[in-house]
Amino acid sequence: MAVLVTGGLGYIGSHTCVELMNTGTEIVVVDNLYNCKKSSYDRIKALTGKDFKFYECDIRDAEGLSKIFENENIGSVIHFAGLKAVGESVQKPLEYFDNNVNGTLVLLDVMRKHGCKKIVFSSSATVYGMNNVSPLTENMEVGGVTNPYGRTKYMIECILKDLYVSDNEWSICLLRYFNPIGAHKSGTMGEDPNGIPNNLMPYITQVAIGKRECLTVHGNDYDTPDGTGVRDYIHVVDLALGHLKAVGKVEGENGLFIYNLGTGIGYSVLDVVKAFEKASGKEIPYVIGPRRSGDLATCYSNAEKALNELGWKAERGIDEMCEDSWRWQSQNPDGYPD
Ligand code: NAD
Ligand code: UFG
Repeated sequence: MAVLVTGGLGYIGSHTCVELMNTGTEIVVVDNLYNCKKSSYDRIKALTGKDFKFYECDIRDAEGLSKIFENENIGSVIHFAGLKAVGESVQKPLEYFDNNVNGTLVLLDVMRKHGCKKIVFSSSATVYGMNNVSPLTENMEVGGVTNPYGRTKYMIECILKDLYVSDNEWSICLLRYFNPIGAHKSGTMGEDPNGIPNNLMPYITQVAIGKRECLTVHGNDYDTPDGTGVRDYIHVVDLALGHLKAVGKVEGENGLFIYNLGTGIGYSVLDVVKAFEKASGKEIPYVIGPRRSGDLATCYSNAEKALNELGWKAERGIDEMCEDSWRWQSQNPDGYPD
């Protein structure tokens, strides 16, 4: 049986495909190439030395998805496909709800029709909203999200919980990611954002490579040790390995499972800048700007549940995250080739 990976050519998906194939798992990938390059497919194959089926298909295309389920022997699904830019979601809420929520509904319906009831879903720490205090634990009330992107994640979590209540033959794992950074050790796979990066690490690496002049730190008057925002950065390969455990969980038993995937450690923006400078030997000029609307002061996980129940723990520290991000950026100044 194969694992269907939606959004499998994107940043987290591609790293997860490599780890799945490295353990001999058969995969089938579906991606509409909206936010990735086809060359990511070639890089995954080159890294693993193995081939796999790739379907260029939108998850909202029920007919296209059905054909994949008819052609392939799909046992479970890892569902990464989605739009993820917080700011853009404020400008384009309908597109975000359509792509993320409607896309998931179409996928779930096709899965049900083909008797496949095992899914691992890419959720986000954003579902904890503005009111919970870090370290965040899975039993905290979720909601209180401040932007359409976050609401799509919250809504999909609600849909999946309701689905499980309606039919407990489903096995569903909600993975709440904290802040994925880093890249594959080889330097051949990494994060390749379009346009001006919104997220901290790709912005820093583009300053380091000379594409951007200087980093703007969004506020230094938060109630944190140095005044800048604190986040739980996690190496993308650790995150990918968490998915292998989650697939094992849904394949092993029915249920609705929720896990944080984070390190449990918070670093400030300036901590990351310093760690990156050390890893790359490059100076990162920065200016302090105003706070970015919607940002929390502090957001980090309690990562114990995933350790206790999945036997998963993030192993790679901030220095390694920075070294690997830099290797990817310096070897691929323009990201993936067209
Ligand atoms: P990404 O944009 O690199 O990957 C997503 C992939 O899904 C892309 O390759 C894109 O082309 C594809 N896709 C989007 N809409 C699709 C559709 N309708 N049909 C088929 N394919 C589609 O993003 P990522 O960073 O790898 O994130 C993967 C998932 O994890 C997303 O759901 C994202 O919301 C979630 N997540 C990401 C972060 C993060 O910081 N990167 C944090 C929390 C959660
Ligand atoms: N930051 C800067 N300058 C920048 C970019 C970011 O100072 O140019 C700061 C932010 O203010 C924040 C920290 O760096 O304090 C991290 O910001 P990111 O944009 O990298 O990440 P966020 O924590 O804001 O958001 C991420 C994902 C979202 C997800 C959220 C919660 O991008 O998709 O984590 O899981 F919703």
